[in-house]
Amino acid sequence: MKMQFEHISVLPQEVLDFAPESTASILDCTLGGGGHSRRLLEKFPQATLAGIDRDALAVEAAAGCLQAYTARTKLNQASFSELQDVFNNLSEPLFDYVLADIGLSSEQLARPERGFSFMQEGPLDMRMDPDRQQTTAAHLLNTASEHELIQILRNYGEERFARKIVAKILAVRQVKPFESTRDLADLVSSVIPRRLQKKGFNPATKTFQALRIAVNNELQELTELLAQIPIRMKQGGRLAVISFHSLEDRIVKQQFRKWENPCVCPTDLPYCICGEKSLGRVLTRRPVNASTKEVADNPRSRSAHLRVFAFEKTDL
Ligand SMILES: C[S@@+](CC[C@H](N)C(=O)[O-])C[C@H]1O[C@@H](n2cnc3c(N)ncnc32)[C@H](O)[C@@H]1O
Repeated sequence: MKMQFEHISVLPQEVLDFAPESTASILDCTLGGGGHSRRLLEKFPQATLAGIDRDALAVEAAAGCLQAYTARTKLNQASFSELQDVFNNLSEPLFDYVLADIGLSSEQLARPERGFSFMQEGPLDMRMDPDRQQTTAAHLLNTASEHELIQILRNYGEERFARKIVAKILAVRQVKPFESTRDLADLVSSVIPRRLQKKGFNPATKTFQALRIAVNNELQELTELLAQIPIRMKQGGRLAVISFHSLEDRIVKQQFRKWENPCVCPTDLPYCICGEKSLGRVLTRRPVNASTKEVADNPRSRSAHLRVFAFEKTDL
């Protein structure tokens, strides 16, 4: 029986439109519910698709969604940093189109037991792969040093009240360890002065984002993904990345720029002596955002940024 999986794919038409016309092999690095993969397999009836997700429930849901295409798909539970193992098990790990729609699915957010949401009471977990990851958000909150927690909140949440929030966390955890999402959400809300709380924006948003990024090592995972992709692309292949916050978007933007123009020669040199060669070109000077209609239909798409890189050189 197909499991129920709540997730509406963002920028669905744009993801299809950026795929090279003669796409024959696809890598979906973030299967989620399989929505993007299904559309791509429909659009390219001859194409094969390799898909991964680090969340076992997502792989299961995607397998259900892609049931009609089993002959053309190979799905695995794996994280970006484990892609090499996935490639080792494919006969030809070279792709025309690679998609990474990073972040959380609505399903992960909607399940209180996963602990991602400050809106619902649940254990402070936040692991995308609870079977194989050891560190939960609660463990981090209860054991990390003051300095580590401040760094996490500042670097991953850009939280300006990091120091105050952490001081309160340290005081509270001496009395009773953190267990639930509600405990943390209430604490953050009590620390940030009410007059400085943005309307329509839960004050715990940044703290939850920061912890989630730390628990899942998300920025490192993204960096590792980007490092592995160039040698896996066919000539003319494209990489599409959808990110949901500025930290990830910045990493993608900077990496794409470097691939396009890797030259490190001083700008006043009349010609290049460093020998670094461009891998191709950025197809999206600015990130592609969801239309007003899509945002109205699927508010989660509001913060989605799509960037696409076209690889023109493959002799790496
Ligand atoms: C926004 S959802 C993808 C939705 C999907 N494109 C669809 O159309 O249904 C993001 C997915 O990426 C997965 N994910 C996030 N970081 C990952 C990583 N480092 N390695 C593998 N999967 C990851 C999450 O578990 C989640 O299922």
